[in-house]
Amino acid sequence: MTLDEAPAQAGPLAPSQAGPLAWLADHAEARRAAGLRRELRPRTAGRPASDAVRVDLAGNDYLGLGRHPAVVAAAVRAVRDWGAGSTGSRLVTGSTTLHTDLEQALAAHMGFAAALVFSSGYTANLGVLTALAGPGDLIVSDALNHASIVDACRLSRAQVVITPHGETAAVAAALGAGGWRRAIVVTESVFSADGDAADLLALHDTARAHGALLVVDEAHGLGVVGPGGGGAVHAAGLAAEPDVVATATLSKALGGLGGAVLGSTALRDHLVDTARSFIFDTGLAPANVGAALAALDQLRAQPELAETVRAHARHLAELTGAPTPAGAVVSVILGEPETALAAAAACRASGVAVGCFRPPTVPAGTSRLRVAARADLTATDLAQVREAFAAAGILARVP
Ligand SMILES: Cc1ncc(COP(=O)(O)O)c(C=O)c1O
Repeated sequence: MTLDEAPAQAGPLAPSQAGPLAWLADHAEARRAAGLRRELRPRTAGRPASDAVRVDLAGNDYLGLGRHPAVVAAAVRAVRDWGAGSTGSRLVTGSTTLHTDLEQALAAHMGFAAALVFSSGYTANLGVLTALAGPGDLIVSDALNHASIVDACRLSRAQVVITPHGETAAVAAALGAGGWRRAIVVTESVFSADGDAADLLALHDTARAHGALLVVDEAHGLGVVGPGGGGAVHAAGLAAEPDVVATATLSKALGGLGGAVLGSTALRDHLVDTARSFIFDTGLAPANVGAALAALDQLRAQPELAETVRAHARHLAELTGAPTPAGAVVSVILGEPETALAAAAACRASGVAVGCFRPPTVPAGTSRLRVAARADLTATDLAQVREAFAAAGILARVP
């Protein structure tokens, strides 16, 4: 049975059937047969992802800041000062002076006038796109944009045109078709699964030529791309442009949790008044805010971290023959889910955890290993990674 052939969820139930969720078992079996079951692997305490894993290339803690003593201490201090939770929506009791400090620090680091912190990168994307676009508007979205952008486009109720990955001419054509009140072009700066970079200057030129706004998701750019990890928008000199907005997550290079939208103060005011995922959501917990502030401090103190993680990513790409990455993410495309699963399992058996991306996260036929470089990889780690890649059969013929 394929996923398509799995019984539909709708339809009246005979009394003898197991109940309204009986169809779940059939769907689970179809996913199992297609190599698409997912498994939770709870980590044990400490750095290794499990007893067997010594090098973690599966997570997004690209700079190793998630366990940095200063970052952990700041999180603990914030819990002591403010409590375990933020106590409410940002608009009611959930804003602390720590949130304000983080917003100023993030805006400064990424070159924007203002920032607004959300509870996650997901809610930041939902918030900004639904607050800026609605019926009568157009959103032009890259085919490989993250699920949070896809969901935001759907929730906005704007017309959505999906353009082939990286094709600026298709973006121009979509905008040029007209018939919209306002338009937004949305892209990731560094794509989360493929690890390549958007051509932000070309997209900005195109957006501007049509009077559209460019929204850039810097989830994989912040902390990794540009001098000191200020992000791809800042590095491209676009952060102060009035027609450019960025989103970010605090959960990858900053090693914590949370999200943000960056733009003008007028944009920030608009989001405070209208962004539903900001208003109807509990504010980010103080521990996460304190941790992100301390992680930004570390990034300022060690601006070389961004270049180090990029260099490690380039090295891992050379090892596997994967395309040169724009940031920390190396994408080793293997084809079918089972092939990718077997390679990931072989890496794991050799003590190296790597991500394994299958549909629907990536298009059918492009199941892959997602290898995330870290700034804190040692020569011993890299030697073990090389052995693991050899065991998994993904080591390219390199000297
Ligand atoms: C490109 C992109 N945007 C947004 C998100 C969501 O961020 P968060 O995990 O903070 O919700 C992610 C992370 O999964 C991502 O890769």
